[in-house]
Amino acid sequence: MAKVAPSILSANFNNLIEEIKSVDNAKYLHIDVMDGKFVPNITIGPLVMKNFKKEINNMVMDVHLMIADPVKYAPDFVKAGADIITFHYEAVKFAEPAIDAIRELGVKVGISIKPLTDINVLDDLLDKVDLILIMSVEPGFGGQAFIPSALDKIKYLADKRKQNGYNYLIEVDGGINKETAKQCIEAGVDILVAGSYIFSSNNRKALIEEIENDN
Ligand code: DX5
Ligand code: ZN
Repeated sequence: MAKVAPSILSANFNNLIEEIKSVDNAKYLHIDVMDGKFVPNITIGPLVMKNFKKEINNMVMDVHLMIADPVKYAPDFVKAGADIITFHYEAVKFAEPAIDAIRELGVKVGISIKPLTDINVLDDLLDKVDLILIMSVEPGFGGQAFIPSALDKIKYLADKRKQNGYNYLIEVDGGINKETAKQCIEAGVDILVAGSYIFSSNNRKALIEEIENDN
């Protein structure tokens, strides 16, 4: 049921297309965009991303914007092939107009919260988004340890969805390995973002299958 979204942040950037092909049995490809402002790190932009769509077949391009002005740059990522654009609740003054603006570009819209942000800030937005991304590490870097309070947030979202018939997907990002994946799946997650755990393996496709078959 739950799907793995490999995060290319932990891939070898000298050979990005081959690295992506090494995980292309996954449904989603997670693309981390950082601007050195919203988070203390800088990664890639739309110019690099646009090659992915040309070279990679059949992966859903799941773009995680960790940037200060997501609405301004979202159109560039749509042109570069994004299927889902997720922005941070903490990055905008008003979330609802940001959701509307991104939706108008013709893509699915996700909203994300950092580990210290209360889940209840999303209460009025639950019927307006396609995806909710729970950060289980402070955004900015791969390879950090999973913060367990993410599990309660996932459970909360899964319960709310059941009670109210909402349609959003629940995604978790940061510190995912075999054990934490299992805990998130039990809590009700749909998409497990995994960077270092997948890319440090020399049998990445089998590892993706193993995690997905565990539920
Ligand atoms: C962190 C990024 C994550 C990161 C996860 O800010 O949003 O997607 O790549 O890396 P791991 O799986 O190594 O924690
Ligand atoms: Zn991410």
